Amino acid sequence: MHDTLVMNIGELLLPMKSPVPLKGERMKELAVKRRAAFAVKDGHVSWIGADDPAFFPDAAETIDVGGKVVSPGLVDCHTHLVHGGSRENELALKQSGLDYLEILKQGGGILSTVKATREAGADELFEKAAKHLRRMMSHGTTTVESKSGYGLDRETELKQLLVAKRLSEHFPLRMVSTFLGPHALPPAFSGKEDDFIAYMCRLAAEVADKKLASFADIFCEHGVFTTEQAKTFLQHAKACGLGVKIHCDEIVSLGGTELAVELNAASADHAVAASDRAIGLLAQSETVAVLLPGTTFYLGKNEYARARTIIDCGGAVALATDFNPGSCVTENLQMIMSLAALRLKMTAEEIWNAVTVNAAHAIGLGESAGSLAIGAQADFVVWDIPNYAYLPYHFAVNHADAVYIKGKRILDC
Ligand code: NIG
Ligand code: FE
Repeated sequence: MHDTLVMNIGELLLPMKSPVPLKGERMKELAVKRRAAFAVKDGHVSWIGADDPAFFPDAAETIDVGGKVVSPGLVDCHTHLVHGGSRENELALKQSGLDYLEILKQGGGILSTVKATREAGADELFEKAAKHLRRMMSHGTTTVESKSGYGLDRETELKQLLVAKRLSEHFPLRMVSTFLGPHALPPAFSGKEDDFIAYMCRLAAEVADKKLASFADIFCEHGVFTTEQAKTFLQHAKACGLGVKIHCDEIVSLGGTELAVELNAASADHAVAASDRAIGLLAQSETVAVLLPGTTFYLGKNEYARARTIIDCGGAVALATDFNPGSCVTENLQMIMSLAALRLKMTAEEIWNAVTVNAAHAIGLGESAGSLAIGAQADFVVWDIPNYAYLPYHFAVNHADAVYIKGKRILDC
């Protein structure tokens, strides 16, 4: 006897469960079962079949989704979820022509969020992040990655990671934590970048020891940290048992994407300015290019990441919000799917794979999230759309009708 039968599904999206990320041509493959049904037992998918009562298995409860589209829960694989304050004041600075790195250089940007995060109590950070998480879930996200990086000191980085841990215990959705200690250089270390990297290496060891994060990350960018500093930090983090990720080639091409491949990183994030060589290397690797078109849009840039080239050359792409208070202020992964279609020229099939199976691989959950194969955790979304290609087309609204985690409806959207 199954617990739940989900029936009258117009389209059931079944991204391929794969031990490695979907690369190149494989990103175009998306199994779509029309007029489908599936069953859930003990929180996992236990049966998939045709929407035909003659073949339905016994189930304690039936959910009729009225011919709508059902997909796996979305995986938002790059967010800066836990932080204090907000930066609406920077909009006017941007309008007056100041760019992102200029604002940071003047002590604003990331550093202003660092100040607010240091000043905030853990409960305050928890409540604020909880509000953002609820909004993410209501837009269909059931798995989320959360980075630290607004402390830049031991006390605040640990505070952020502990808040993320509390959130993961409090909410049903799955969370993966990333230690992003070297996100910017704090003024106290001005001119002493290498000392700061050494400090962050020691902190990475403590974070790994206390099991407060699965990954380490660094902002490798002109005027922030060099590729050499990134290499030192990430090699050390790896030796401590953490997986690695990099904010790389977001604004200036520094070689961070090449470094991601060299270190066998789970992901190379942003990669807007990644070189042809870097794209060639990505195609030879299992490092996922996590593209964040919401950030490019929000920063008002015209050059978007070269998703088409990355995929056409054989690489793996995932998409995420990059939700943060400065460069991309939205929890809505559906909006990012629209930008991927409109600006990155990705196809609907590539986009759905990029926010499910490939996003799961980017955070080390390739075997357990982003799929509705038999045995997978029953995290799914009922979408009020006529077909899966419709979602990126009708932009900036919430199409999620109902969101389920482990087969249980978590909230009314
Ligand atoms: O991914 N680029 C670095 N970090 C974030 C932005 C953080 C912020 O501006 O607060 C990003 O865009
Ligand atoms: Fe980011």
